[in-house]
Amino acid sequence: MFVITNLDQAQKINLADLANRIEPQKVLMCRPTYFEVKDVKNVFMEGNLGKVDFELAQSQWQELVNTFQKLGKEVSIIDAVADLEDMVFAANQALPGLDENNNPYVLLSNMRHPSRRKEVPYYKSWFEERNYRVFTLEDSELLFEGQGDGIWHPAKKMLWGGYGHRTNLKAYEEIAKKLSVPIIALELHTNEFYHLDTCFCVLDPNTVLIYSEAFTTSGLELIHHFFQNVIEVTSDDASQNFACNAHVLDYKTVVIQKGAVSTVNKLLGKGFNVIELDTGEFIKSGGSVFCLKVMIY
Ligand code: ARG
Repeated sequence: MFVITNLDQAQKINLADLANRIEPQKVLMCRPTYFEVKDVKNVFMEGNLGKVDFELAQSQWQELVNTFQKLGKEVSIIDAVADLEDMVFAANQALPGLDENNNPYVLLSNMRHPSRRKEVPYYKSWFEERNYRVFTLEDSELLFEGQGDGIWHPAKKMLWGGYGHRTNLKAYEEIAKKLSVPIIALELHTNEFYHLDTCFCVLDPNTVLIYSEAFTTSGLELIHHFFQNVIEVTSDDASQNFACNAHVLDYKTVVIQKGAVSTVNKLLGKGFNVIELDTGEFIKSGGSVFCLKVMIY
């Protein structure tokens, strides 16, 4: 399998010919027991050192759990570990998927920051205990941050891969081979939008929500090639409200940081249901709804 970086290459792919993928229906999250902003790994963390309101973070997180449960999703909780303050961002340590026989696997991340690499073994054990096959990237030069940068195309075994900050392009060559899936690689060329899930949110097989400034011209061409409906988020909604770090359930209900008025109106206009939640304490660390969980099989 191969990595696609431009429209010419993309035109050789016919989505209809690619294997179908069942969407995961369960959620894995990690309680923010040790959550803090201790250092600056992304621009959102600047000025927020030591500023997390602990109680508020617990209740915002619990509200997200309650929301998933109310929408009929089973939520599992992995134990938080002392000193691993970012372990709460459960999207980043592994990418779950289904192999050709539809057996579940995870590809473990090679995280960029040494402090975050320590989170991965805990997720590895969690998945191993549940009989997931585990893939790893042996070469330590290959960087990859799970569902932060690797986002499955709706209903298909094709991966969208953000690179430039936490994941490198080289990693996708290896990942495409290991997982036997094509990867559409998107360069993230701004300082602010450091994970693909900060600027790209798939909503249904035809629809994606994006912040276009985060992408290069070839990236935008690729996005428009594969999605009929591209909903654009304003700069304020993307940066202040983390609107693209939303998550859709059943291609229907979008759970999103509250206050992204223009994005919410666009989503309602396209027929989606919207649930607005406050994840403000986590935005201080550069994350919101999408990255506080990982969808699992
Ligand atoms: N503080 C964390 C970091 O910089 C936030 C990660 C948020 N995750 C995400 N997928 N956007 O690594």
